[in-house]
Formats: sequence, C-alpha cells, structure tokens
Amino acid sequence: MLSIVVLISGSGTNLKALIEAAELESAQFVIKAVISNSPNAAGLALAHNHKIATTVIERSSFGTLKEHKDAVLASVESYRPELVVLAGFMMVLHESFVNAFAGRIINIHPSLLPLYPGLHTHERALADRAKIHGCTVHIVDTGVDTGAIVAQAKVDVPSDVTPETLKSLVQKREWELYPWVVTCIATQEITIADGSVSYSEKVRVAARDKNFILPVTA
Ligand code: GRF
Repeated sequence: MLSIVVLISGSGTNLKALIEAAELESAQFVIKAVISNSPNAAGLALAHNHKIATTVIERSSFGTLKEHKDAVLASVESYRPELVVLAGFMMVLHESFVNAFAGRIINIHPSLLPLYPGLHTHERALADRAKIHGCTVHIVDTGVDTGAIVAQAKVDVPSDVTPETLKSLVQKREWELYPWVVTCIATQEITIADGSVSYSEKVRVAARDKNFILPVTA
C-alpha cells in the first residue's frame, strides 16, 4: 500500500475522488493525512468524515513566509508519506520541500501543459478559441507547473461554452485521471526516477482504453 498525504486549499473535489479510490476494496494507496493552508477548505470536513487525519497550517500563524513553508514541510514529513499529492494547493512549495521529496510530489493542473501554466486556464483557453483543453498530472519541481508530465486527459471544447462549464468538464476528467495515476504509481506501472517518468506496457494499454495521454518516452 502506497502511503500518501494530500495537500489542499479549497473545495477538495479531487480529494473526494482520491478518497473514493482509497476506499475501494482493490485500493492500492492509503491517505495518511490531509493538510490545508486554509481552515475554510471544504475538503477538511470531507477528510474528517472519512476519519482521515487533518492539519491546518495557516499563513497568519507564522511571522515569515519561510517559517510557514517550513511548517508545511515539517507537517508533511511527520506523516512519512511515500508520495505527496497536491490537489488544489494554492501555495508554491519551497525549494527545501521539493528537494526533501524530489520526484515524489505530484500535482494536477487544469490545462494540457505546457499550455496555460498558472491561473485562469479555462478563460485563457477560451480566449484562444482552443478546440481541445484538459488536465495534466505532473511532477512538482521548483517552477510553477513546469515538472515532467505524468499523464493528461483531453476535453473537447464545445462551442459557446462558458469558463464555468468548461471547468466542470475538465474537473470530471481530473476526478478520473488523478486516482488512476496515483494507483499506477502505487503498483509501479508508472515509475518516477531522476525527474523522468517511465510506463509499463500494461499501463500504456490501460491509458488508451481510458482515453488518457501518456508522454512518449525513449
Ligand atoms: C483543480 O482544478 C486542479 O486542477 C487545480 O485546482 C483545482 C482544485 O479543485 N490544481 P478541487 O479543490 O480539487 O475541487
């Protein structure tokens, strides 16, 4: 069983999808804790209801930003996770965090990276009249949404769609993609070493069945 810690800041819909996967009889990972930098994150109540440990580490409790970031790292370390899963965590991790868990932190981002790193991805895709949009699970490095891509899911952009509707179409794919990726890492069908990602033949076939995209690697 792969042990993971999930970091959130908001609604926690990806957390919900991860909890559902962790509660399956066939589950391959266990959520040791949910850590939030906001006491108002709705995902905290969800975690509580599922008897998962929660910790809130608010910026306002610390003098400097570095002290806050150190506290987040210390909290994550205290649970000794094998994988750190960012799910709507609105904070750039400190370099010391990335180094402490090098290659063991993943994030889900609401665009087909490298397109639209950062915020307001749906609005930007619509402004560009993009026909295809989607989401990406990637390794976290010290940049913003720059780490190696692990897997992606595409969404066809309907004509005249609002950013809100596009967001909900992308989210549905996020809820399928993220637990699947974590499960594949747990079963070592996806492996991450030295910042690059490798895939078993089995996982490539499974990805095609699910209409997920895996990068072509050497
Ligand atoms: C998701 O859209 C994810 O791609 C992005 O933040 C959002 C989190 O949503 N990183 P939720 O808190 O999981 O509902």
